[in-house]
Amino acid sequence: MLTHEDNELLCRVGPGTPMGDLMRQYWIPCLPSSEFPENDGPAKRMMLLGERFVMYRDSLGRMGAMAEACPHRGASMYFARNEECGLRCNYHGWKFDLDGTLVDLPTERSGSRAQQHFIDKVKIRAYPCHEVNHMIWVYLGPRETPPPFPLFEINTLPIENVDEPAVMMEEANWVQNMEGDLDSVHLNWLHRRLAADSPAPPSGIRGFWSPDPEPPELDVERTEYGAFYSSQRKWTDGQIWHRINQFIFPFHTMISVGKIVNLRSFVPLDDHHAMLISHSGSPLGPFPADQVRGRNAFDEVGGYEPRTNDPRSYFLTKANKRNDYHRDLEVEKTLMHSGIPFVLNLQDRAMTELMCSFDGEPLYDRTQENLGSTDAFVIAVRSQLINAAKRFRDNGQLPPNVEDVSFDRIRAASVLIPSDVDWKAHSKEARNADSGEAPSDDVPLIID
Ligand code: FES
Ligand SMILES: [Fe+2]
Repeated sequence: MLTHEDNELLCRVGPGTPMGDLMRQYWIPCLPSSEFPENDGPAKRMMLLGERFVMYRDSLGRMGAMAEACPHRGASMYFARNEECGLRCNYHGWKFDLDGTLVDLPTERSGSRAQQHFIDKVKIRAYPCHEVNHMIWVYLGPRETPPPFPLFEINTLPIENVDEPAVMMEEANWVQNMEGDLDSVHLNWLHRRLAADSPAPPSGIRGFWSPDPEPPELDVERTEYGAFYSSQRKWTDGQIWHRINQFIFPFHTMISVGKIVNLRSFVPLDDHHAMLISHSGSPLGPFPADQVRGRNAFDEVGGYEPRTNDPRSYFLTKANKRNDYHRDLEVEKTLMHSGIPFVLNLQDRAMTELMCSFDGEPLYDRTQENLGSTDAFVIAVRSQLINAAKRFRDNGQLPPNVEDVSFDRIRAASVLIPSDVDWKAHSKEARNADSGEAPSDDVPLIID
């Protein structure tokens, strides 16, 4: 459990909060490239860490982001005209370029001192954008020059080796959503099939099956970039199956899923909404056609709800907490531990979106919980995050992966080894994105 104060510090990310300040030091994955199919198309509203802005693709195809409120009298730049490398506010025509410079001010006489005065004085807050491999990242921090761009494998592989990101809005605080990725034992329950030979249900993938009736033993290693752990299950031949997953500051995970690599980012829009951006790549060659999910990830459960212009309505799946996530009670009786389709993190969302504080805020009150041995990685990551936010708040000290992006060159892994083998030493190369080896998948996630 956490104290109320630490829970608040861990979960809240708005401007001026310790965790929000820490997150703002990093590049943040924001929206897929497919959201902006054409140059000079309409701007989109977006929100990260409680901060509102608009995004657009300019006349040269470059991505731009700027504060939503026009600095003249506050009209939303969402309705701006996207023309000739800038956004022109629809209210009185002030125009800003990619850097936020005021380049036209038609409400004052041309050449007048008043016009010059505003051009010299007024800028709109512009956020640097970086687009790579179907994804647009944004920097919301205070630096004039942003830190180096992250070197995760999904950012450095050739574009044909990388799928489009699969995105899902989660209607709850980002921490409770992310904690599902740090929690191996729930595979034995939430995602399991009822018997070893249970077939796949009508929708979603076949459930997890563990040959070991005991819960996994966790072994956690804290690192400078975050933490990793092995969840250890006994395999049928007496060897130990180590499922090794990563946490990377400030909100990324990597989980072992086979011959592909991934980055899963739990990106907070505000304290009550976060996107899971699941981005996968194939180091072995072009991304395999049968693995493509991207924007079609939720087609088999009805796809997405219609959107409004509020970013919190984007990527909201039709299966959601208002309809029990399409839970099928017949499937729950006969095939799967949960009748909710096993599609990306839909089952996980059912577990975490209804967690709330005493007054119903979708931000779990961690003073109420009872943690055990299988929660060891959740505990480690929370304390890594809380300590990092406090060190930055109190001493200005940052985790080294802000500056040194070589920390990003890591992987999740799945290895099968005898019980007397040191798993950390054995998996060193399997956890290294530059090893030249294929991703290690000694045991697939869904065992036949
Ligand atoms: S409010 Fe934008 S130009 Fe006036
Ligand atoms: Fe899960």
